[in-house]
Amino acid sequence: MNSILNNRPVLAREVNKVAETAGYLWEKGWAERNGGNITINITEWVDDEIRQMPAISEVYPIGATLPYLKGCYFFCKGNNRRMRDLARWPMENGSVIRILDDCASYVIIADNPVKPTSELPSHLSVHNDLLRKGSPYRASLHTHPIELVAMSHNPKYLEKDVATRLLWSMIPETKAFCPRGLGIVPYTLPGSVELANATIEELSDYDVVMWEKHGVFAVDTDIMLAFDQVDVLNKSAQIYIASKNMGFEPEGMSDAQMKEMTEVFNLPK
Ligand code: 13P
Ligand code: ZN
Repeated sequence: MNSILNNRPVLAREVNKVAETAGYLWEKGWAERNGGNITINITEWVDDEIRQMPAISEVYPIGATLPYLKGCYFFCKGNNRRMRDLARWPMENGSVIRILDDCASYVIIADNPVKPTSELPSHLSVHNDLLRKGSPYRASLHTHPIELVAMSHNPKYLEKDVATRLLWSMIPETKAFCPRGLGIVPYTLPGSVELANATIEELSDYDVVMWEKHGVFAVDTDIMLAFDQVDVLNKSAQIYIASKNMGFEPEGMSDAQMKEMTEVFNLPK
């Protein structure tokens, strides 16, 4: 079959990482039906031939003007598409888009005219902000991890850094592999530009943010690492909940133990 990935091993490797991650999301039970979405900025792997490829869709508005994305390319999960299908057939359940010169609209260029995720405003606004900051991060993930979402139903865990401190203290690796903690975005309509703006703001201090009563949004250099950050946080949430289910409040690592970890692993304070 004719695919943009043919004879482009580096691009194919990045899309395959998305497919592999999509499979993990499904296996974890974080991706009911079409739940969750992934986008990756593939601009650095785009060659002249791709730049010449014609649009295979109409021009769609992004809903925001994003100047750092001019001429950029993204691979995006499709709207209403399942993670478990993206895992097996990434190019049938996602598509490559080109941001047009007005920085406010895009077209689909390959392989199929699969309309991107409804959370595109958040994903693209975040990618725009990452480029503005000169960040090396190229991947963004939105998913519905059960235990973290459950915690977001109690206002006590939505206070600044309460969940971060609790989750870090459940197991030493959590702070090591999610060193900036968990930011909080109060409930906002899915797919909205308001949600996108609140997400960008919170991502200035965190790599993973909670969308209250909905899911999380995570960024990192590639999609595997973004997934890992959510995975370590949710593992801690599971340990916390397992302790509560055994009928006790978990002790958590002490302040002295956290301090020692932070110093030895050279983590941010
Ligand atoms: P999409 O199918 O449009 O990606 O939506 C899934 C989702 O989780 C919305 O928040
Ligand atoms: Zn969602």
